[in-house]
Amino acid sequence: MQSIIKEYNNIDSWRTAMFLYQSAVKEVQTKLEILNDEFQYVHKYNPIEHIKSRVKTAESIAKKLKRHGKEVTIENMVRYVKDIAGVRLICSYTTDIYRLAEMIGNQGDLKVLSVKDYIKNPKPSGYKSYHMLVSVPIYLSDSVVDTKVEIQIRTIAMDFWASLEHKMHYKFEGQAPEYISDELRKCAEIVATLDERMLSLNEAILAFQTEEPEEASNEILLEDNPLIHLR
Ligand code: GTP
Ligand code: MG
Repeated sequence: MQSIIKEYNNIDSWRTAMFLYQSAVKEVQTKLEILNDEFQYVHKYNPIEHIKSRVKTAESIAKKLKRHGKEVTIENMVRYVKDIAGVRLICSYTTDIYRLAEMIGNQGDLKVLSVKDYIKNPKPSGYKSYHMLVSVPIYLSDSVVDTKVEIQIRTIAMDFWASLEHKMHYKFEGQAPEYISDELRKCAEIVATLDERMLSLNEAILAFQTEEPEEASNEILLEDNPLIHLR
């Protein structure tokens, strides 16, 4: 990414970088939609409830660099701001999160650069989510550029909590009254309990389903389809 950027003046390198991040978001989002569709086709189940994507604004990139004591330059932005391209996957159950993380790890063209499991190790605030930093190759007319995308995977309940916590953080600029952050931490515990109980309930409901008559599975259909070449 650095070399390609150096060939342009500042405005052009900003545009080039942003173009790459936008392309990377599109690329990752499409890949995940295909995985979700395939999962639906084979297992009659969607691990992803919905996907939210965004590219960080110039303002928020500059703010983050300053917060980390770095000069606001394009080089620093590319090197230090890991979440310029962000894709968030919202699932119903915690088991979906790990299933998706594994599926993402198995994608040959995505490189997993780092993983932060804030579900096993929640933040002191109570924040829970599974973060993966990946890089995706962007094929341009004369080069290929590996571009970073932060993928956050969380349940609907964790997302509900994180939205409110984000709002609180923004409103009080990190100096929230104690009773509010205490209440949020308590809500995080309720969210964790809710996630566990909904998962058990779903498993109980699935176990109760009457057996359907044997049908040729979709997996066999996929293998038999002459249009699909499985690797
Ligand atoms: P920043 O937190 O963005 O400076 O990056 P980091 O390197 O510390 O990574 P981290 O994994 O902690 O956070 C990355 C992103 O996760 C953030 O930009 C937020 O979107 C989200 N996040 C992390 N911690 C919290 C939290 O306590 N509350 C909420 N609402 N979101 C969080
Ligand atoms: Mg952070």
